[in-house]
Amino acid sequence: MTTGSRASIEFDPTAPAAVRIVLVGFMGAGKTSLAERWATSGGAVLWFDSDRAVLAELGCDSVEAAFAEHGEARFREVEREVVLARAQPLARGVEVWSLGGGSLQHADVRGAISDACVVWLDAPAELLWDRVAGSDRPLARDRAAFCALHAGREELYASVSTVRVDATRPIDELGLGRLLSEYLPPSWFGSGLAVGAGLLDRVEDICALHDGPVAIVADRAVDHIADAARERLERAGHVVACDTRLPMGEFNKQLATVEGVLAQWAGAALHRGSTILAIGGGTLLDATGFAASIYQRGIDWVSVPTTLVSQVDAGIGGKTGVNLGVAKNVVGTVHMPRATLIDSTVIASLPEDAIRDGFVEAAKTAMLAGDWLLERARTAAQAGSAERGDAWLPLVEGCAGYKDAVVAEDPFDTDGIRAQLNLGHTLAHAIEAATGGAVTHGAAVAIGTHAALRLSELVLDAPASSVETWRELCAQLGIVTSSPLSWDELEPFLALDKKRDSRGLGWVLLEGVGEPVTGVRLPVEAARRVWDECIRVGEGDRPGEGAPVETASPRHPRVLVLFGVNLGQLGVRDAAHYGAQTLPELVHDVEMWAAAEGLVADCRQTDSLERFVHALHEARLRHHAVIVNPGAWTHHELAIHDALEPLSVPRVEVHLSDVDAREEWRRTSVIRPVVDHVVSGRGADGYRDALRWIATRLRG
Ligand code: DQA
Repeated sequence: MTTGSRASIEFDPTAPAAVRIVLVGFMGAGKTSLAERWATSGGAVLWFDSDRAVLAELGCDSVEAAFAEHGEARFREVEREVVLARAQPLARGVEVWSLGGGSLQHADVRGAISDACVVWLDAPAELLWDRVAGSDRPLARDRAAFCALHAGREELYASVSTVRVDATRPIDELGLGRLLSEYLPPSWFGSGLAVGAGLLDRVEDICALHDGPVAIVADRAVDHIADAARERLERAGHVVACDTRLPMGEFNKQLATVEGVLAQWAGAALHRGSTILAIGGGTLLDATGFAASIYQRGIDWVSVPTTLVSQVDAGIGGKTGVNLGVAKNVVGTVHMPRATLIDSTVIASLPEDAIRDGFVEAAKTAMLAGDWLLERARTAAQAGSAERGDAWLPLVEGCAGYKDAVVAEDPFDTDGIRAQLNLGHTLAHAIEAATGGAVTHGAAVAIGTHAALRLSELVLDAPASSVETWRELCAQLGIVTSSPLSWDELEPFLALDKKRDSRGLGWVLLEGVGEPVTGVRLPVEAARRVWDECIRVGEGDRPGEGAPVETASPRHPRVLVLFGVNLGQLGVRDAAHYGAQTLPELVHDVEMWAAAEGLVADCRQTDSLERFVHALHEARLRHHAVIVNPGAWTHHELAIHDALEPLSVPRVEVHLSDVDAREEWRRTSVIRPVVDHVVSGRGADGYRDALRWIATRLRG
């Protein structure tokens, strides 16, 4: 056995993570040009220009027009409002403001920037007059008045500024980056990661990357977020040339989906001066980032993760890709987004199981990072759902920041540093594969990490306290860390692990909290022993035996919706019987209908009988009800009968077509004796009926 290599990184959680730089100075000093340069070159920063915000608010094209239509007093009033509205704290990231020359007259505006790094771009009135005379600026019409105003403002600028910069030279010679290096540690500036509450309200700032058109690609589950983003972009003058909404999930994270997106971009004539704005969870971001990486050999994209898992983990770090059939993420690239915008307020509306799944990845990151992040995880876990947005912000910010730092050390996952993020994932992926995806990723990582920590005890002499810490954290949210699967069911899938090379599998283990070790080679016997002795639970000793609960919340019961053989062909197959809808479209509707009934639909399609049956086995643990449409298996496959029979949850058999009115052989259903309800011949609506029936039954 080899001991692997230490993978801890330098990360100072006490260093300030957010930087706000406010450029002030008289008109013509170059505030807007400089801010724009920062926002569009190097790492993305959020850019706020007070004049632009006022003009958008007043619906005018120029300051001149705004003064003429509304008067200077109204302009100043709106200026004060937009600046104060903008002054909320940012948890992580870099934000640059270019403030209109007169806004500092308001005392509360001066107060709002008191914590920022205020840079005064200073130049003599005569020089500025030469720059702006003859422009349409309303306050630059009369030289004497201009100079008097300049003299009157000097004291104001001096009183608020942190640094004074000589702005007589052209802006590209100002060397501000060097001057401000103490405020802008390169990794923050470079990665363009911003975390905060309400950041989606600033989405237009980061799409200032280029002046070309913007293309939105969003998960249909977050249509409302994408609609609002589009409106903001258009109001700020961006052209949205293409707006693609996809019903996303693992099942359509496929090359065909990417091809469709690329065709739309090409049809809209996107070019290398365009920006792609991807909004959604991990699967949407992976597929869109991948499309961005290959369109015209790579164009810029901005990532807006909207699920907890993607905010703390999957949406950060530039790994993009799609599945190839059932093989996950085997096709892909590393293509860093120019900016990653994480708005913690979206967490508040996520269902409980999405929270649990995300929490597991966050807790995993905490085990890697150390006690400071574990503390934040404990605090978040204790918060009630109503306070979630605020209470989880420090955890999300810490996880995103830590992952960002890990990625900066080893962007291409070649140095054994980034691999630490796979703690618990070797077995988690095997669990997911062995159960046909019926166990969610988060639930699988909870078990996989438990096993990795037990292995760490066995082979690295790690303290037992790490295991206890992990189990306590998971227990706080009712997440189980054991599994009824046998080692023999898992082992075949270990061969597919990405961390396997010609020397075998490199495990990620922990010497202790905050001390990850990667590339540990160990005999498979050690893993088997740990699994059998510490992780596997027999039928009798499963906690809550009989109740199908562990990761499901009673308030949002989970329904397994299984589509069997050939149902992946919907849309192209016999539309007269099965309708024109594709499976992704149907799945989207099913998810929406389920949500309307207060249920969470967990939809799966497979042409493999083995996976279908495994999913039913696992439903015992994970789901409150099951809807099956086994396709042609319905009529003869007794293995499905046997898998359904012992389930104690409501079971519904659904067929799109009216099987009893078709060929003779379709009139037999071998599963009918072991289901509680049948819906047949109602097309896609049959799924709505089935979900309603389940909702009523669970309520009763
Ligand atoms: C089906 C009916 C089956 O007879 C057929 O083999 C299918 C689909 C339905 O939904 O109508 O594949 O289950």
